[in-house]
Amino acid sequence: MKAIILKQAGGVENLVVEEVPMPSPKKGEVLIKINAISINPVDIKTRKGMSLYNKLRENEPVILGWDVSGEVIEAGEDATAFEIGEEVFGMVNFPGHGNAYAEYVTAPVAHLADKPDQITHQEAAASSLAALTAWQVLMQQAKVQSGERVLIHAAAGGVGHFGVQIAKYLGAYVIGTGSDANYDFVKELGADEYVDYNHERFEEVIQNVDIVFDAVGGDNPKRSLDIIRGGGLLIAIAGGITDEVKKLAEEKGVKAWAYLVQSNGDDMEQLAELLEAGTIRPHISHEFSFDQIKEAHTQIETGRTRGKIVISM
Ligand SMILES: NC(=O)c1ccc[n+]([C@@H]2O[C@H](COP(=O)([O-])OP(=O)(O)OC[C@H]3O[C@@H](n4cnc5c(N)ncnc54)[C@H](OP(=O)(O)O)[C@@H]3O)[C@@H](O)[C@H]2O)c1
Repeated sequence: MKAIILKQAGGVENLVVEEVPMPSPKKGEVLIKINAISINPVDIKTRKGMSLYNKLRENEPVILGWDVSGEVIEAGEDATAFEIGEEVFGMVNFPGHGNAYAEYVTAPVAHLADKPDQITHQEAAASSLAALTAWQVLMQQAKVQSGERVLIHAAAGGVGHFGVQIAKYLGAYVIGTGSDANYDFVKELGADEYVDYNHERFEEVIQNVDIVFDAVGGDNPKRSLDIIRGGGLLIAIAGGITDEVKKLAEEKGVKAWAYLVQSNGDDMEQLAELLEAGTIRPHISHEFSFDQIKEAHTQIETGRTRGKIVISM
């Protein structure tokens, strides 16, 4: 089969399409013929030798990627959750060896869900890591309650655009941040308010927020402490919580922690229900072919992607 190999940590030129042996499903796993995958910022960080690179280097060749959608073509021992021929999607083996940049991928059935018939494989792949992150943060970590004021940084991005839709589904009053170019996009997703960082500093125009979900990093977590009410919560997914932010949060009586998404098929099933009902919808701004992996990485690396990008096989 064809796979995209990461020859060594570095630039996009190190991503090369090669023939590799087909993987074989182990106990509890299925073999999936892939229709679409999606690309996330963690792919770019790992390609550059950061993030999960040392983990992936345990296995040669190094194959990036975690988001898949395709058809089950073989089942390993005790992998009875899906029939041969069923269409499935999910975030596979994160934070571990996903090996998703390939024509065929093995995955634990415990990481997968049935792909709703109403959505394409591209939409399903787009609704894996990013959607799962937003779901786990807002539903399980923050336990958003109806009427709470939730601020989502990078509301137009892969995670953020699901975050806005999920927070609205949970009944929150949602404030998004992003550039002026994404004002209409984020409002159409359902955000009640939008702060355009080109023209305003969010801490000067927003107050009394219950939950901040930060997918930007840098000084955003520290600045966000100024707008969270006492007893409120900050969850950061990009770059973590520094000791300084932790100390400041304690002084203000604000809870603050970092979160890393985990593969989970039960959560994927819940996302599948929301996708099937049309309650949440992925926005795909760019679709590439398998041979255009360098262009796909270059796009995500801009840090300005609206919604998601996918690769069709
Ligand atoms: N810990 C975890 O489990 C986890 C999971 C998923 C993602 N992440 C991390 O979270 C971050 C976001 O991921 P993603 O998939 O959403 O990335 P993405 O799709 O590449 O995000 C791009 C978006 O970020 C917005 N943006 C950039 N700078 C901004 C700023 N200063 N304020 C507000 N918005 C800004 C851009 O909007 P404009 O063009 O309008 O600026 C763009 O729409 C990445 O660092 C990623 O690695 C962590």
